[in-house]
Amino acid sequence: MLLKDRVAIITGGGSGFGRATALLFAKEGAKVTVVDYVEESAIKVADEIKSVGGESIAVKADVSDEKDVKHFVDETIRAFGKLDIVFNNAGIYIPGNAEQQKVEDWNRVLDVNLKGVFLGCKYAIPHMKENGGGVIINTASAAALIGFPEAIAYAASKGGVVSLTRAVALDYAKFNIRANCICPGTSETAITKDVLADPQLRAMFLAPIPLGRFGQADDIANAALFLASDLSAYITGAVLPVDGGWTMA
Ligand SMILES: NC(=O)c1ccc[n+]([C@@H]2O[C@H](COP(=O)([O-])OP(=O)(O)OC[C@H]3O[C@@H](n4cnc5c(N)ncnc54)[C@H](O)[C@@H]3O)[C@@H](O)[C@H]2O)c1
Repeated sequence: MLLKDRVAIITGGGSGFGRATALLFAKEGAKVTVVDYVEESAIKVADEIKSVGGESIAVKADVSDEKDVKHFVDETIRAFGKLDIVFNNAGIYIPGNAEQQKVEDWNRVLDVNLKGVFLGCKYAIPHMKENGGGVIINTASAAALIGFPEAIAYAASKGGVVSLTRAVALDYAKFNIRANCICPGTSETAITKDVLADPQLRAMFLAPIPLGRFGQADDIANAALFLASDLSAYITGAVLPVDGGWTMA
């Protein structure tokens, strides 16, 4: 098992990438705190882990709320005694170019996608230092790597996640804390359900992917497992595209 007795927090753990990663980390021996804004889905994933003999708690939280973030970190320490891994993965997508994007939507996207990652680092790091090290994994996006149309706040937030990840990697390497980010390409989860239901848009998004298929939640979970485990012990500050080759093509 790659994560035996490690303790992991996964935000956005109730759905998509976060859910698949929570189940995979638990299968690999981790104790998992499943964090989601939608409480029922977090509870469902934690129950799924427990039903096969794993250890998990569910915590309802909004990652953009400082009190909530402190709370889910505290709950993790209370339940499992330490913290080894945080996967800052919760995110939202609200489309719109510079003229269309409402300021309140810009603020919400930046709050969840970027401030949420900052807060996850801020409250996890002291426990990782105490523990002699740790691993931070952040979910950015292909939208951080190439020009991304009609989603100005989303693209800006994900670009911020890449820069934030490098800053954290540099500041905390001396504490044996590694920080890396994953840049998923277009993947079939709840966040893309409506867009990919439209045959024309589906074909448009599929066309530039060299591997000829959309990503699946397990593709991201497998990358997160690699980055969380000692297999990546010498990797920090990395920006890993998991996108079927989209952004290199
Ligand atoms: N699916 C894709 O094509 C794709 C591509 C690139 C990046 N991403 C990123 O991957 C991450 C996961 O997305 P997904 O595809 O699994 O989507 P998803 O919608 O299936 O999962 C996102 C989860 O985050 C939760 N969440 C949203 N806002 C939250 C908040 N404020 N606090 C706590 N939880 C919150 C949602 O309830 C949901 O369970 C996001 O950061 C997204 O931007 C997705």
